[in-house]
Amino acid sequence: MKVIRSPRQMSEVSLRLAQQGKLIGLVPTMGALHEGHLSLIRGAASQNDAVIVTVFVNPLQFGPREDFARYPRNLARDNRLSRAAGADIVFAPSARALYPSGFQTRVDVGRLSERWEGRSRPGHFRGVATVVTILFQVTRPTNAYFGQKDYQQALIVRRLVRDLQLPLKVHVLPTAREPDGLAMSSRNAYLTGAQREQAALLYRALRAARARIHAGERRPRRILSQMRRLIRQAQDARIDYAAIVDARTLEPQPRLHGRVAILLAVWIGRIRLIDNLLVDVS
Ligand code: PAJ
Repeated sequence: MKVIRSPRQMSEVSLRLAQQGKLIGLVPTMGALHEGHLSLIRGAASQNDAVIVTVFVNPLQFGPREDFARYPRNLARDNRLSRAAGADIVFAPSARALYPSGFQTRVDVGRLSERWEGRSRPGHFRGVATVVTILFQVTRPTNAYFGQKDYQQALIVRRLVRDLQLPLKVHVLPTAREPDGLAMSSRNAYLTGAQREQAALLYRALRAARARIHAGERRPRRILSQMRRLIRQAQDARIDYAAIVDARTLEPQPRLHGRVAILLAVWIGRIRLIDNLLVDVS
């Protein structure tokens, strides 16, 4: 099945679907699809009449020293996998089509985008929020699907949908993991064999932290220092941030309560990995 390239054609197709009263499910991706993406597509297929998968490596969300140029691209494969998982339409615009010359608008979600990933990757969430808003306008989804893997991103998308009163529902689906717990990511392919083994420590550290909370520990600093100790065992690992935060605001808590998110960003050699777990305290 053919991929739609033109935003205008995509817009016409989705307008027609909407006029027919069809429920449209949208799964935005940057391609290099893996089981995590496919679980979102399957989830969308189970709740909608038509599923649109977008494949677009968004230049706006990459920093100057990040991996935009070498980000894996294989549209034929992404198209095949998307359809097998239940997608009806694959939309893969060019950067020129989405950002024609003269393009200058940005969508900036406030405080939620300042900490954690936002601090380590300046401008990243502005790029994400901008492209997601455009994709929402072009595809007119009833439902849009995001992964918990990128927890802060999912919260930011929720916020922008509320703040801009966009008529769609955001769904956040669980993180798909490898058998040893490593969260699936297209960047895992860059890891060497030895680094791949060390990468499993992220999830182990998150689980250890969750176990400490379940055992009654409420002091985040205690839990975080245990996590750091664990991760330091890996030769190539360097922690970017480790935090336990309010799951809605992403602000740290002096004493844990309510629903919290344990957030982790770790460099393994030159590859940066992120992961998180949500925990209901008590
Ligand atoms: P990408 O990294 O391709 O991820 C696309 C979607 O898949 C995101 O919602 C992400 O959270 C989800 N995802 C990634 N790994 C996952 C996993 N292991 N389990 C479950 N879901 C997973 O995130 C982006 O692209 C971009 O920022 C995008 C939203 C497309 C905007 O450009």
